[in-house]
Amino acid sequence: MRISTERLGSEIRAGAVSLTTRSVVRALAMSGDPVMRVLGRRALEDPYPEYERIRARGAMVRHPLGMHITTDHAISRAALRDPKLGVKPAPERPGGIPWQVVSGEEARYVHPLDESMLVLNPPEHTGLRRLASPLFTPRAMQDMTRDVETVVDRVLDRVEGRARFDLVADVARRIPIEVICDLFALPDADRTAFVRWGQVLANTLDGIRTLGERREVRRALAEMTRFLSALVDERRRDPGEDMVSRLVAGEVDGEPLDGRTLVALVGILLLAGFETTVNAISGAAVALLRHPPQKQLLLDDPALAGEAVEEFLRYDAPVQMLGRIALEPVTVGGVSLPAGAMLVIVVAAANRDPAVFEEPHRFDLHRPNKRDHLAFSAGIHYCLGAGLARLETELALRHLFARMPRLALAGETRMRPVRNVRGAGAVPVLSRGEQ
Ligand code: HEM
Repeated sequence: MRISTERLGSEIRAGAVSLTTRSVVRALAMSGDPVMRVLGRRALEDPYPEYERIRARGAMVRHPLGMHITTDHAISRAALRDPKLGVKPAPERPGGIPWQVVSGEEARYVHPLDESMLVLNPPEHTGLRRLASPLFTPRAMQDMTRDVETVVDRVLDRVEGRARFDLVADVARRIPIEVICDLFALPDADRTAFVRWGQVLANTLDGIRTLGERREVRRALAEMTRFLSALVDERRRDPGEDMVSRLVAGEVDGEPLDGRTLVALVGILLLAGFETTVNAISGAAVALLRHPPQKQLLLDDPALAGEAVEEFLRYDAPVQMLGRIALEPVTVGGVSLPAGAMLVIVVAAANRDPAVFEEPHRFDLHRPNKRDHLAFSAGIHYCLGAGLARLETELALRHLFARMPRLALAGETRMRPVRNVRGAGAVPVLSRGEQ
């Protein structure tokens, strides 16, 4: 079977492999191809040995199917900052079964991952980014600290008395959604729906695999579009101090944003900060539980929580790889790429580049250069919510271990079947350790 290079490249960029290409990928994986093995089932639990096999082939690996892949830190950072490389507009980005139809009711649904700043190049990207940036300044984060702490306390209050709970469902999944709902000033009654939409869309980041999933995605997008459109209208009529009101009041090039663009913008703040932060909170806690001497460092000095967050982001990036397309001919890592060429930047592997990080596979809170990781990307798409993600994860770790110093894993953790946004689906824990 032949599949186009372009198409496979796009799917890999999205971390997705569609039904039609899956058999080709499987055949290549069985032939031992390390690039394709990254997409295989076994790499879900631990993709790092596969990343090392790719690294062993060189800093820029050209795959027979067309795209280039890099695991090199210096090349990755330079590529993410290179204006000749851009993101690929989403409508050309297949990922499994497409959720949308060309006309009718669905044409009005907004998928924030298809039409927000994340998938726009300059000049469209620039105005939207400028509009949203003031909401996430270091000063704004400082002002939010008390509120985030209140959310973390509220969530931990609910589990503290329990001998056993699930770190993902009962703790990590609740914090980012509660925080963003507070920032949007949403009533409690609307929050359950937010969690549901976030989960449905996060679970299909690798592409939609079944018709049942497509139904769920469409239902979530229909409800979310309706809800966010009404929210935007309401805040236009009756503005407050919340994030949505501030975005509604903002302008790009002297014009207010239209409803659809606002819905995509509010939606991306919900989606981009949801599963990624869930995975950072649960993943960092698990890394500490699996490395008792490192956990002890945090117990002895809770101020190390911020160091633990940075080292975790380096050690196991929640967003494992990013894709870029050459907007014009460009040289990357000494290799000339024509316009339209695809580049896959495996940031999780760049974060373990031995040329930059000594003993890169070791989880070490005292690593001096851990902040050099690329977990939040680099260049113009550098994560807008990085400060908020850091704040939430740091406060979650600090309070979790202060309240439950004997916290212990109570069995196997299960990774969610999504490759690009990596994280556990369930982490059973004992709050007072083994009895
Ligand atoms: C640990 C948690 C998080 C991780 C690992 C993460 C990671 C990333 C990465 C890698 C990108 C860049 C994608 C690219 O270069 O193509 C990104 C972009 C973005 N993130 Fe995050 N993110 C996290 C949390 C958040 C939070 C909490 C928010 C907001 C509430 C957020 C909002 C955004 C937005 C709006 C963008 C698009 C920026 C742009 O295109 O200019 N993220 N994030």
